Amino acid sequence: MTTVYLNGEFIPKERALISVDDRGFVFGDGIYEVVRSIKGELIEWYAHAERMSRGLAAIKIAFGPAEVARLQDVCLRLVRHNELVGGEATIYLQVTRGAAPRTHHFPPAGTAPTVFAAATVFTVPRDARQNGVRGITFPDYRWTRCDLKTVNLLGPVLARQAAAESGAYEAILLRDEVMTEGAATNSFAVIDGVLRTHPLSNLILPGITRAVIMEILAELAIPLSEKPVTHAELLRATELFVCGTTTDITPIVMLDGVRVGAGKRGAITTRLQDALTARLYSARPRRLTPSLATD
Ligand SMILES: Cc1ncc(COP(=O)(O)O)c(C=O)c1O
Repeated sequence: MTTVYLNGEFIPKERALISVDDRGFVFGDGIYEVVRSIKGELIEWYAHAERMSRGLAAIKIAFGPAEVARLQDVCLRLVRHNELVGGEATIYLQVTRGAAPRTHHFPPAGTAPTVFAAATVFTVPRDARQNGVRGITFPDYRWTRCDLKTVNLLGPVLARQAAAESGAYEAILLRDEVMTEGAATNSFAVIDGVLRTHPLSNLILPGITRAVIMEILAELAIPLSEKPVTHAELLRATELFVCGTTTDITPIVMLDGVRVGAGKRGAITTRLQDALTARLYSARPRRLTPSLATD
């Protein structure tokens, strides 16, 4: 039996009911996060909490940083209740503007946000990490606040469906002939020997894994250029990878049916993967979040 969290209660998933008036359902009016746990510890919790708080403030949902901070305990309890402490899990968090009769403008002040969280077992796809995956390019149909992790995901849904239909794992999004990011990942490419990624802006999500990779790059003294990669440059990339909380660093070895570089995981990608793996699994003192021993 799966236990989830809804509006202050830990309940069986089957009993978690949300109103048809919920603005998350009607408008996609909400913010979400996906956090990873390894052996009962939340990875980069504070960065996820900060991004969630920023997103909620930006769209003016009355759920402040102190309330987001309390979700840390909710995540840890969900991992325990669902017996996921021994391995890896993902915790999905969602806060919407709540349930109210349908109006485009905000509901009356005092409408309670809907707060939901659920933990699911996560198995690392090691083959994809090592041997790489296929990708496609796809138009970036999204709005111009991609820096907010809103539950409006139709652009990524259509992009990932196109990828799935062509046997690919990820869609690399192109806006005005420039690579922004993946449908549910940030993306990096090596062009003429230089590692490049889109700069932080309203056109990409400020990925937590992207930020961790930046730290690793500094530690390894690998130069990075945050200069957007054009479609034409992408065609001559010698390495391409996507990253995210559940993607780690995954090489894309074939793009639109054409080999990327040698068609296998490249040298820079491998170095970054090794450093990220060390950080996730062995660099325990770097962990920021304590585990919940009992509850
Ligand atoms: C559009 C987009 N970019 C990037 C990412 C990666 O972000 P993170 O590393 O914080 O998981 C995600 C994750 O869901 C995403 O949806």
